[in-house]
Amino acid sequence: MLHAAITAVGHFLPEDRLTNADLEQMVDTNDEWIRSRTGIRERRILRDEDKATSFMATEAAREVLRKRGIGAEEIDVIIVATVTPDMFFPATACLVQAQIGATNAWGFDLSAACSGFLFALSTGARFIESGRYDKVLVIGADKMSSIVDYTDRNTCVLFGDGAGAVLLEADVAGNGILDTVLHTDGSNWDMLCMKGGGSLNPSSHETLDKRLHYLHQEGRAVFKFAVEGMAGVAGTIMERNGLSGEDVHYLIPHQANQRIIDATARRMGITMEKVTLNIERYGNTTAATIPLCLYDWEGDFRRGDNLVLAAFGGGFTWGAAYVKWAYDGSTMAVPAEQEEVLVAAE
Ligand code: ACO
Repeated sequence: MLHAAITAVGHFLPEDRLTNADLEQMVDTNDEWIRSRTGIRERRILRDEDKATSFMATEAAREVLRKRGIGAEEIDVIIVATVTPDMFFPATACLVQAQIGATNAWGFDLSAACSGFLFALSTGARFIESGRYDKVLVIGADKMSSIVDYTDRNTCVLFGDGAGAVLLEADVAGNGILDTVLHTDGSNWDMLCMKGGGSLNPSSHETLDKRLHYLHQEGRAVFKFAVEGMAGVAGTIMERNGLSGEDVHYLIPHQANQRIIDATARRMGITMEKVTLNIERYGNTTAATIPLCLYDWEGDFRRGDNLVLAAFGGGFTWGAAYVKWAYDGSTMAVPAEQEEVLVAAE
């Protein structure tokens, strides 16, 4: 059976840093509270007002193409997971398609908040497995600073901007995305949402006055659902695939809160050395957290390593993926025998 493997990873992070000390000047908060309650020290902010999510997504996509040594015209499908599209329409994927010059690709955006990258990865994998497409670009990108209320200490300390991208291609050697478990439960949608600007509350002076164009989160309640959701689904994917804590080489969790990640690792029976953590440096970049971790740890992964990816986000949405990593080092060289099988299959 064909599996979809990640064959290259790219990223983009803005240069500008927003530290806990900076936030102390903006709202009633302090470094100790932020670090102990979330694990975050600083986040990256895209300050250039002319640039938005598509810019970061495009930079991440270009890095993928460079690393893999392929032209943009080889891309078949572009999926952008984001809750901060440049605009309602056209989709951010259309803007990325034009900016990278992917003249043979079609694409679309996918909205699943912090689970967006996992949902997009799973969707992209199906396109490869079907045999219909050869190269699918999956991007997680969010400019959270565009919807964060920097007068609300409950949320403004949590989020940052960034983008990560992966290329999916067929693997016949048994590596790749071997399983995914995804969930949606909209019954608590209003615990984590942005109410303004949609068809329910179209933009008006009233929606601006009510601050409806900012992200709203009931943090304490969401925290409980997040722990249960992320730890639960990580356990499910291990069980379904007969994996013990020892079998898992890395947990790549969504980076919303270090305490949620600790609880997930404990439930999976794995030590923190096996957990990719960069929340300290980037905060919660929503759809970008998991590909940014893949980017930061790519050099440590070895071909055949068992990775569990897990996320929880607004919606609520949550899920996990079991990935057998397909290459050593910072980019994949297609093994000769695989090339032959793929050519023969055509
Ligand atoms: N600085 C200082 N004090 C603060 C701050 C701050 N930045 N923020 C809140 N507080 C105060 C609160 O006002 C409260 O004070 P009170 O007891 O006097 O009312 C106290 O600290 C405790 O507040 P809690 O909200 O209970 O703090 P908690 O320990 O739950 O941490 C946090 C808050 C970090 C938001 C946590 O609840 C959390 O991580 N929730 C889950 C986030 C998540 O996973 N979201 C899903 C993904 S995001 C997405 O999909 C876009």
